[in-house]
Amino acid sequence: MWWKSFVENIEQTIVGKGTYNSVSVVDCQKALIKREFWEDLFPNISHPPEKLAIRKGHKPGLDKGDVVDEIFLQCYCAFLGLGPRLFAAFYTDVPVAITNNDNRGQQITFDRISTWCEERKEFHPNNKLYREGTVESTVSVSEAWTGSVAVLFKVWKDTQDFKSLCAQSNFSDKLVGIIHKASEAGIFHGDITPGNLLYRVSDPSDYSTLELCLTDFDPGYCLLIDSRNRTPEIQKCMTTATVAMFLGFLKCYDSVVYKHINTPVFQELERVVSTTLLGTDPTCDFLASVSGGRFTTSSSRLHSVFDRDVAQVFRTMVFHYAGGDNNQHNPGVYPNCFKWTSNESLFRQLLSYCRNVGSSGAHSSGRPVVHDSPTPLPTSPSQFLKTP
Ligand SMILES: Nc1ncnc2c1ncn2[C@@H]1O[C@H](COP(=O)(O)OP(=O)(O)O)[C@@H](O)[C@H]1O
Ligand SMILES: [Mg+2]
Repeated sequence: MWWKSFVENIEQTIVGKGTYNSVSVVDCQKALIKREFWEDLFPNISHPPEKLAIRKGHKPGLDKGDVVDEIFLQCYCAFLGLGPRLFAAFYTDVPVAITNNDNRGQQITFDRISTWCEERKEFHPNNKLYREGTVESTVSVSEAWTGSVAVLFKVWKDTQDFKSLCAQSNFSDKLVGIIHKASEAGIFHGDITPGNLLYRVSDPSDYSTLELCLTDFDPGYCLLIDSRNRTPEIQKCMTTATVAMFLGFLKCYDSVVYKHINTPVFQELERVVSTTLLGTDPTCDFLASVSGGRFTTSSSRLHSVFDRDVAQVFRTMVFHYAGGDNNQHNPGVYPNCFKWTSNESLFRQLLSYCRNVGSSGAHSSGRPVVHDSPTPLPTSPSQFLKTP
């Protein structure tokens, strides 16, 4: 397969390596990828990429349907400008090499592309052939952005001038903007943390050129909402829930950043969603009625597959990211994390938790915040979202 040979042999630098995924960056000029290559491959391309991000994942037994859904979500979000431009994505059972490949770019031959383009026409995400069974490796080749917002936050913190850089970039408006644009397109990305938001600046000395986009479209957490359910009210509920989860994550794990961005983010959110934010809009009931601890689905108001799916992802991610799960395992380590208190809807509890800068979780120990990374998510969504 041509793209497999491309991602194994092109000159690249590994920038991140997790248990199952590695991300490397290709400088197209250094790797001798010519402009004509992009123009032949994508005839309508207006400006070829300068850098590529290659994400290689390897884990035996990946569900092929999940993998195909993730590719589909990547394509859809790239098309809408919600995610980085995507140039190739595939799966294979033949292991994909992960190396830096210094100076190996010249080994690639660029003459088989037309054959690959023909093969591409056969693909359809609902074709059983592409969904049944398991696979071992997945690869995507997208446009490289500057980095994740986690990195941006660190850069801003290091300058000791977080607040003014954040204001100059209009970060809060752009954050709420990209999340709401996703909601309008039917994307409920339940996993928006600083690590899953990418940023770039066209002028590094001027943060007003900041742009944000989403990454990591794991279908276990990232849902495509049926077009019948994409009413403005539901879109606003999804935006509110997603922004609240993002703020909840920060309040739990990075209170410094949380204190800086909380007020402007809420102001922008209020402007975009108005009454929904107060948790009083009845259309948010599908979230507001989520109650009880993890993995319970007993609420009688959960009446459709849509409600169940969104509510389930919402509940899972609140407990994982705003602190419930991690705190249960490490009591006292993250004293500012969200704590579930019974008899009130999770949606409203999360909103008041995020809004209130002063208060921490109901059972706060008052110990100082430790800035460790949160426990990683389980890699198999089906295993995590299962209800008892
Ligand atoms: N297109 C990209 N441009 C720049 N960096 C990227 C890009 N895609 C991923 N990354 C980096 O790799 C990290 C992991 O990517 P992600 O898509 O979240 O995969 P996963 O978390 O499943 O490993 C991101 O936090 C970001 O730092
Ligand atoms: Mg990620």
